[in-house]
Amino acid sequence: MVWPARRLWQARPARRAKPGLIIPDSMKNIVVLISGGGSNMAAIAATALRDQWELRYGARIAAVISNRRDADGLLKAARHGIRTDVVEHRVFADRAAFEAQLQRTIDSSDPVGKPALVVMAGFMRILTPEFVRCYEGRLLNIHPSLLPAFPGLHTHRRALVAGCRFSGATVHWVTDALDGGPILAQAVVPILAEDTEHDLAQRVLTQEHLIYPQAIARVLGQSPGS
Ligand code: GRF
Repeated sequence: MVWPARRLWQARPARRAKPGLIIPDSMKNIVVLISGGGSNMAAIAATALRDQWELRYGARIAAVISNRRDADGLLKAARHGIRTDVVEHRVFADRAAFEAQLQRTIDSSDPVGKPALVVMAGFMRILTPEFVRCYEGRLLNIHPSLLPAFPGLHTHRRALVAGCRFSGATVHWVTDALDGGPILAQAVVPILAEDTEHDLAQRVLTQEHLIYPQAIARVLGQSPGS
């Protein structure tokens, strides 16, 4: 029997988080971390809407958090009606203080303080092993290279200098190893003879926008309760 969407939601236990806002306890809350343009975040949000992640997986993007106040991605998130927060790394005395506030902000987006997934999408901060451990098994990243090739920064420049004929993007679980966690998805793009760093970055980005939402959907589909 197929229940209408309304009935399904009414059947779930609910908790009143803020006045006027009812959030089902069983909802899988996704938090997206950004630093800049937020085009990956926007692609994820658009896919979540198009593919009805709330109905299909009981999942929603609960918050977008930026470590930069001027990140364009914050406006894109607001346009999607997603809650935004800023935790500026530069105002904290040290990395531990920044990460403590980041952690509080991430966890506050879930009624029980445990978001289902924390998705790094162009989030340009290196996280300590302590932080990573807190979100182990729930922390995803996208990297603009075919890992394990070219971890770290300036991936496109390095791929061009190395004379690679192909590059791509990788979605992976985050572990202590920089860009070294288990791989969830990859996409390959050709490198053309006349490519600039910008050309290659744009070509890779179009693939990032496809594989990141797909990988997240796959994880949501495999997690309990979907
Ligand atoms: C993407 O290429 C991402 O892989 C890299 O930075 C870029 C961010 O793009 N880490 P956006 O902020 O999602 O538009």
